[in-house]
Amino acid sequence: MKLTSTASRKLAALSLDEIKEAQQEASRQFEEFKARGLSLNMARGKPCVEQLDLALGVLEALHARSEFANSNGDDCRNYGVWNGLPEMRAIFGELLGIPDDLIILGNNSSLQMMFDCISQGYTHGYSGCEPWCRQGDVKFLCPAPGYDRHFAVTEYFGIQMIPVPMLKTGPDMDLIERLVQDETVKGCWCVPKYSNPTGVTFSDETVRRFARLKPAAKDFRIMWDNAYCVHDLTDEPDQLLNIYEECLKHGTEDQVLIFASTSKISFPGAGVAALAASKRNIDDLKLRTTVQTIGSDKLNQLRHVLFLHDADGVRSLMKGHRRILEPKFHIVLDALEQELGGLGIARWSHPHGGYFVNLDVMNGCARQVVALCKEAGVVLTDAGATFPYGADPNDSNIRIAPSFPPEEELREAMELLCIAVRLAATEKLLYERAE
Ligand SMILES: Cc1ncc(COP(=O)(O)O)c(C=O)c1O
Repeated sequence: MKLTSTASRKLAALSLDEIKEAQQEASRQFEEFKARGLSLNMARGKPCVEQLDLALGVLEALHARSEFANSNGDDCRNYGVWNGLPEMRAIFGELLGIPDDLIILGNNSSLQMMFDCISQGYTHGYSGCEPWCRQGDVKFLCPAPGYDRHFAVTEYFGIQMIPVPMLKTGPDMDLIERLVQDETVKGCWCVPKYSNPTGVTFSDETVRRFARLKPAAKDFRIMWDNAYCVHDLTDEPDQLLNIYEECLKHGTEDQVLIFASTSKISFPGAGVAALAASKRNIDDLKLRTTVQTIGSDKLNQLRHVLFLHDADGVRSLMKGHRRILEPKFHIVLDALEQELGGLGIARWSHPHGGYFVNLDVMNGCARQVVALCKEAGVVLTDAGATFPYGADPNDSNIRIAPSFPPEEELREAMELLCIAVRLAATEKLLYERAE
């Protein structure tokens, strides 16, 4: 029996014999796949070679150039300009909708800037409060599924993580509003646009509720990681409300730290990262930053400015990314629809941008699906990685990263993934019926 032909019938509604038949079919297909000896990797959301080629102009921008001064006359080859090139700050300023003088440029990684901000809270504190390390047990809110590296940073500092469910509108704000009444809760991670991995963009109301939060802790910080702020994949991109402007309306601007980078605009690992924050936070951060470094890599910032020119330059470059990424997202979504649609054994996101498709399989099946794929040569993000401490309470979430593999390989990997989902689901149903 070919399961795709029963698309209108839920798998759980089939008779025992039909499920057995479906399991045998999936098992046979799986063995066939294993024999192909594949070696594919869909574990991380990395741009593919063609995307990286779009930004080769960055490397050429300084070639044979004799003029290295920025608009203020600072020589970009030398030390100085602690907060980064004004022209590059202006680009981030426009993309994020935040005044340029509230932006600090880092080096190649916004994650490193996030790490530094958590580190600063931990060792020196915010808003004149005791450092977190002297306040006993402190906690962070972690909307989940979320970005595993956020959770890794939090865990590294021994900060207790509290998972908060992600809804279609963003994190569960009722829960967040309750949890921040606890003074030991010091912050919340957010990927507000095309969230990693759910693809959700926070609704206007969610952004307003974040801006209106009145946490018990004065040193509470929202880590607003806007990594996918310009990473649209459709003609109707999601619109994210400007949290900084909303915070200004309520006098809460000190409680948000905003991050972005060109990692998925130019080069991951060799782009430019940025942090935007209130004047008071910038002053606090300056105290650390100017001890930590005599200045970020201004030559890299200069070559990015020469290549990108301005925010419109970024937007037009992102259209090139979309031309490469959109067909890959379609491959993933078409495979899911054709192979799993209507079976009632999986749900998935239809993101308008970002880097991921979020797949939820039957409870208790995610680890098995990821293990099956690995056995047949396709590496996915570890099941559970999208939850604090790697603990997915339902063992159901799988992150699909379509960007890196070539289209043909992606098709193959998706075929295998769908077979693995069906195999795990049929085995689970057979087990349940045998009980
Ligand atoms: C949500 C999110 N934030 C940050 C990063 C890493 O950013 P950067 O390269 O600027 O450190 C990623 C990379 O996948 C990401 O998904």
